[in-house]
Amino acid sequence: TRVRSARYVVSSVTIDQCPNPPTPPNFSGKWVGFPDFAFIGRSNVGKSSLINSITGTDGLALVSKTPGKTKAINHFLINECWYLVDLPGYGYAKTVGRQMRDVWANFTMQYFLERRCLCNVFVLIDGTVPTQEIDRQVVTWLADNDIPHSIVFTKCDKKNKKSGPPYSLNVEAFKRDVLAEIWDDEESMPQVFITSSVSNQGKQALLGYIKRLRSV
Ligand code: GTP
Ligand code: MG
Repeated sequence: TRVRSARYVVSSVTIDQCPNPPTPPNFSGKWVGFPDFAFIGRSNVGKSSLINSITGTDGLALVSKTPGKTKAINHFLINECWYLVDLPGYGYAKTVGRQMRDVWANFTMQYFLERRCLCNVFVLIDGTVPTQEIDRQVVTWLADNDIPHSIVFTKCDKKNKKSGPPYSLNVEAFKRDVLAEIWDDEESMPQVFITSSVSNQGKQALLGYIKRLRSV
């Protein structure tokens, strides 16, 4: 799977500003336009970095050491046929006040619930830290609302600080403590990807998965 072109389209702070607004349901029941593949995760988890990695375009999404860099819904058009969507990170309170955080939560929840051309949500989870309560809440919320999603562990190139567990232990713990609590059997669990924006690990697996979802 190749990314031949990737370009920034629009930054939206309300759902109406997003591209190809869905066709009303009484028209044909289908949307007209390109499907969205959204990337979410805690602030600083590496969403923007992964977008640059899988598109092979440095500087497409802005990367920062300071959490809370991405403040709007950014649509990038890939190969002129699908959107990669970078959303603001959740769970970071330092750079923005509580009120702002709530606005973000409402706005992104509205995006998930109302965006009919949303094909899949990739929930990015930092592979270097143990299960975070906020990640559990988000994955549970997506499952409860029947929003199709996958789990993407990031920063899997990172060596652990001294005695910390390797990413594989965090991944197994997440599957056991979060996914197995939501789904009864392994087959209905969301797809899990192991990635690194530094080594590009998992890039082809993600692109191949997106390609398969687009053709069903
Ligand atoms: P917000 O937009 O603030 O929510 O952050 P984000 O999730 O978009 O994270 P971003 O891509 O800006 O990366 C945050 C920090 O993590 C940067 O310092 C990146 O260089 C670093 N980082 C991201 N991905 C990786 C990775 O795969 N490996 C390593 N080692 N570092 C990474
Ligand atoms: Mg970002």
